Amino acid sequence: MPSGLQVMNEFTSESLKTAWSHEYQRKGIPSSFRKDPTKPLVEFMAWCRDKGLSGSAADIGCGQGRNSFFLAQEGFKVIAVDIFCYKHIVEKEKQKHYRSELWRSLKPGGYYFISLASKNDGFYGPLLAQSPDNSRNLIVDPHAKIPSLLYSQDELCREFSDLFRVVEARENFSISPMYGKEYPRAVLNCIFQKN
Ligand SMILES: C[S@@+](CC[C@H](N)C(=O)[O-])C[C@H]1O[C@@H](n2cnc3c(N)ncnc32)[C@H](O)[C@@H]1O
Repeated sequence: MPSGLQVMNEFTSESLKTAWSHEYQRKGIPSSFRKDPTKPLVEFMAWCRDKGLSGSAADIGCGQGRNSFFLAQEGFKVIAVDIFCYKHIVEKEKQKHYRSELWRSLKPGGYYFISLASKNDGFYGPLLAQSPDNSRNLIVDPHAKIPSLLYSQDELCREFSDLFRVVEARENFSISPMYGKEYPRAVLNCIFQKN
């Protein structure tokens, strides 16, 4: 089994770009083919509407842009970038830097909404048994060969509490396809506010 360090060396930004291009051709995970916005974002938008929030939004890790278009339809001025998705930054120091850049870019009181697979996820969770580095909950998607970190709700909230206030944290469960097979999915959806 490769060590965590080997995994980091193996996954350069170029090789990750290639892995994602292949994934978008293969269409193995739902976000690679779905056109409708992700349900957690639709719910977050309802939450924003309730609070009368509007303005600018950055869709970080936008992929084909389904969520960016939805945010624009909801009246937000949108910046969409397809890099720097939190769970795929697998070095803790880089994640720390990422959080501080998020904090710096947000206006006072601004919100960061994150939706990612939890440790309880029926597809990604069992991969922890073959983790190249259990101390980080590092897993590698065996199909796409893309690394990511898995979290429990508590771990994710604790990690962000250095710079953010936890406004809401939930774990949502569903059944959905991954690589042509149905899995019980568990997704963490958290709203963090700039402290
Ligand atoms: C699971 S897809 C989700 C796409 C989009 N948010 C959606 O829901 O349709 C994750 C996206 O983040 C990008 N991405 C994530 N982490 C990245 C990293 N560290 N380097 C480069 N790209 C990354 C990928 O290119 C990919 O499009």
